[in-house]
Amino acid sequence: MNLVTTISEARALLDAARRQGRSVGLVPTMGYLHTGHRSLIERSVADNDVTMVTIFVNPLQFAADEDLATYPRDLDADLALCAQAGVSIVLAPTVHEMYPLEPITTVQVAQLSAHMEGAKRPTHFAGVATVVSKLFNIAGPCRAYFGEKDYQQLAIIRRMVLDLSFPVDVVGCPIIREDNGVAMSSRNAYLSPEERSAAAVLNRSLRAAVRVIEDGQRDPEAVRALVLAMIGDTELVSEPDYVEIVDADSLEPLDVISGDVRIILAARVGKPRLLDNIGVSVG
Ligand code: PAJ
Repeated sequence: MNLVTTISEARALLDAARRQGRSVGLVPTMGYLHTGHRSLIERSVADNDVTMVTIFVNPLQFAADEDLATYPRDLDADLALCAQAGVSIVLAPTVHEMYPLEPITTVQVAQLSAHMEGAKRPTHFAGVATVVSKLFNIAGPCRAYFGEKDYQQLAIIRRMVLDLSFPVDVVGCPIIREDNGVAMSSRNAYLSPEERSAAAVLNRSLRAAVRVIEDGQRDPEAVRALVLAMIGDTELVSEPDYVEIVDADSLEPLDVISGDVRIILAARVGKPRLLDNIGVSVG
């Protein structure tokens, strides 16, 4: 495995691989890798000849009052996981390497970034879209792997690739969960044992929502009310920032539940905000 810290080294390695006819997989991360990240890495290693994992805590996607300074980091553990999973290249650049100047060119994926996480974190998705654009420009033609855990992020990146003609095939990967159903996240490191078990209500409420939809409920308000009631009854879990029932592709809120649907929520459990979502198809 090659650990590189500069854009030019990463480019040179991937250009050389492509010249030899080898396919490239890219897995962008902010590190502190867990089994969720690992599932993306394993998929990329299975699909491609060469996999590059990027580890970069991107300051652009954190607001001033967010956890940039305390975001968990463990490069040695991350490198061990990558080596074990068969990764070819890890790019772990410094902030100065990625942003030698404060960027004045940014990427905004307008409508898709306006609601849900975007309403709560108004500068977040421009930060994500900008850094992912840079990573795509560094990696060149490739498949790129993103988790459905950050469902809105995945939709934004798919749309950005379409709008800006990046030579990238975006692959969405399913959510990996703890035994109690909590979606794995680097920020779960902030949870106490009590908070960790209380957080299970998020996924439990989404599964209950899917059951009532499968039993014929088509009114999004009734489904939201069910989710809110279940979460509202749980100590240590805040009232959700949002519970949205949206079209799985456009992320438009639905008046009537039909087609491919995604139910997406965010709530604070102790300090961290946790995200979760679930899909359901209505014939
Ligand atoms: P990060 O939170 O480190 O996540 C990196 C990738 O792992 C994302 O595509 C995310 O959706 C995926 N992932 C995280 N937890 C997962 C889980 N439990 N199951 C499946 N996939 C999971 O998302 C980011 O970093 C950043 O915004 C990034 C795209 C790297 C841009 O900075």
